[in-house]
Amino acid sequence: MPPTASLNILAIESSCDETAAAVLSHGKLLSHVVASQSVHETYGGVVPELASRAHEKNIIPVVHQALSMSKLSMQALDAIAFTQGPGLLGALLVGTSFAKSLAWSLDIPLIPVNHMHAHILAHFIEEPTPEFPFLCLTVSGGHTQLVWVSSPTDLQVIGETQDDAVGEAFDKTAKLLGLPYPGGVYIDKHAQRGKVQDYELPEVNMEGFDFSFSGIKTAILYFLRKQIQKDADFITKNIDDICATVQDTLVRALLRKLIQAAEAYKVKHIAIAGGVSANSGLRKALHELSHEKNWTVHLPKLEYCTDNAAMIAMAAHYLYKQGSFTDIKATPLPRMPLPVLSK
Ligand code: KG4
Ligand code: ZN
Repeated sequence: MPPTASLNILAIESSCDETAAAVLSHGKLLSHVVASQSVHETYGGVVPELASRAHEKNIIPVVHQALSMSKLSMQALDAIAFTQGPGLLGALLVGTSFAKSLAWSLDIPLIPVNHMHAHILAHFIEEPTPEFPFLCLTVSGGHTQLVWVSSPTDLQVIGETQDDAVGEAFDKTAKLLGLPYPGGVYIDKHAQRGKVQDYELPEVNMEGFDFSFSGIKTAILYFLRKQIQKDADFITKNIDDICATVQDTLVRALLRKLIQAAEAYKVKHIAIAGGVSANSGLRKALHELSHEKNWTVHLPKLEYCTDNAAMIAMAAHYLYKQGSFTDIKATPLPRMPLPVLSK
């Protein structure tokens, strides 16, 4: 059940390329606004300096809109939450400075939120919420983690990528294929029209519950180079099938570890979170697994998969109840960790 404490929180998210604000009251979402930055589309990835500038331009209008949609006045706010990390330093600085100034001027508490924690708590914005404990596969542009969640504020990473995140593998492949950023979205669209081929891409595997995606990225590069030598139009002719095959390889790598971890931890409650949880292949595979393994699977609503401030507000709600506040001396933590289970 979502918490019911009487509390109005304004949350701000600026860790990467979305400037977002949300207002949560009594544990209920009143408004959330996301300004996406189209400026990165042609670069094949987020350009940090352009992201910071766009946040600087967007933050006041986005906060204004979220407040006006919530119908709450600034004076009705009880706390300001912000993403402290992980993320891009310059991008985080914009949200952190803004949140600190506002909390200071209103003389209300300031709640620092870990972005990866918040992706998981996106599952508590609306019913049905997962039952504790559950296992969450968090898959984004910067992270790939298996997280054991025993309460809204008690999380432990049991496995993670040792190199690239799966979102990065999607985005870098898209760049090789000449598709715009965010590449995962375009690969997914093409994959839905394509057929999985026997291209002999290596299986992605690692010890334990950890992941590795740098090998597959290099293998795709060499595979494409070889094919283009034989036929210069290989990509144009086969774009749908290439995307379907790459997506299938990445999704299978994720599921292999998820299944392994669910069995080791004897858990039937499974969730996915983060930008890549919007992937249609991953969602379909999990839907099938829910029947096959008798799992209760939680897939976030599409609007809460990618970066947003509603999830930051939700995490802040639980952190407020614990009294997890910071002060005016807070600085961004670009590598802010979640607790890791000792091996
Ligand atoms: O969580 P997110 O919005 O930002 C980070 O915290 O990184 O995730 C962004 C990532 C990008 O790599 C983007 O390509 C990927 O999520 N993504 C997808 C899809 N939608 C977004 N990847 C695969 N399929 C999708 N439908
Ligand atoms: Zn994210």
